[in-house]
Amino acid sequence: MNTCKCSKAEFDRERNETLSAQPEGKGLVTIEEEPIIGETPQAILKSWLTPNPLFYIRNHYTIPEWDSDWELSLGGHVNSALSFTLHDFHSFPIQTLPVTLECAGNNRSDLEPQVPGNPFQNGAVSTAIWAGVPLRHLLERAGISEGAVEVLFEGYDAGQPDPSVDVQPYLRSLPIDVAMHPDTLLAYEMNGEPLSREHGYPVRLVVPGWYGMASVKWLKRITVLQEAFEGFFQTDRYIVESDDGEPVPISKMHVKSLISWPEPNTALTVQSHMINGMAWSGFAHIAKVEVSDDGGETWNEADLVGPRYRYSWQQWNIAWTPKSAGHYTLVARATDEDGNIQPLETRWNSLGYIINGVRPVCVEVS
Ligand code: MTE
Repeated sequence: MNTCKCSKAEFDRERNETLSAQPEGKGLVTIEEEPIIGETPQAILKSWLTPNPLFYIRNHYTIPEWDSDWELSLGGHVNSALSFTLHDFHSFPIQTLPVTLECAGNNRSDLEPQVPGNPFQNGAVSTAIWAGVPLRHLLERAGISEGAVEVLFEGYDAGQPDPSVDVQPYLRSLPIDVAMHPDTLLAYEMNGEPLSREHGYPVRLVVPGWYGMASVKWLKRITVLQEAFEGFFQTDRYIVESDDGEPVPISKMHVKSLISWPEPNTALTVQSHMINGMAWSGFAHIAKVEVSDDGGETWNEADLVGPRYRYSWQQWNIAWTPKSAGHYTLVARATDEDGNIQPLETRWNSLGYIINGVRPVCVEVS
């Protein structure tokens, strides 16, 4: 299990070293200012829906701008190439879906030894009700030709993702079956509001159950491919090494939970407290959340509360009365309905992805 960051001073120092100063509760916790990267503050991670201004942001490049009216083109291996305006989108039947997005690098700062990359703590995860048009609707209009294997999505944003490679747009692909899944959305609304510039205005992809990198923002072009796409964000990033050293692309979110309250190093008294948090998994409902107050030796089952949807996180809580004064290491562990259990240890990897090991929260009881 990750070691407990028991000393508040040590916890604060780490945070100050890596993150710019940010008044608590006033906005996102800034990780980087240009391009904008920020995480949801801990105090907000107990809200089932994340308020739009506090929804985490992960951009690889500067937020794009374009001169002409926005249009999305759909071409490649299709019967007829098409293009769509925002007006077209509003004329299609609307679908809404609550979806939790988690960045594949969420909790990267917990890894030991440390790895390069954005030092996210808990907050590169958020939930919104997305509204838009199933991608399938557009693909069926264009007609996918025989032999197609993937669909490629291009954002309007571009840059040099690494000093060793050329300037390029943000590009990611999906297998045909995922692109054709009725829940894969081209979203233009988030929690009842038009998408903001930060989150992909005017239209973005939302791939429920997948880590956030798949949900391409500021869509410019969709291309149906006859071969698998092997671009930078598909083969150099968002991969983990298998045990035999082979690169494995990241796709579905792994089962995970977090403790929203108490926060690390909270001072408590010997009385009943309500521990609460969130749990999520890529495709299955959460079956149970267990909580331990002795670092994982013994477990008690929490109550699952609040809304219950397949692609969104699940709130949970449990009443806890410490036996006596002293130091406690609280941990939560989620299990989904497919039988996936959150591991006690994260599998360390050099790019720092899929960090879903349980995260100890130390509290002092007096
Ligand atoms: N789409 C584009 N065009 N450019 C990007 O940099 N970042 C991806 C994804 N879509 C990205 C993108 C990553 S890594 C994540 S985690 C999510 O967007 C974050 O979405 P959000 O910023 O709306 O939370």
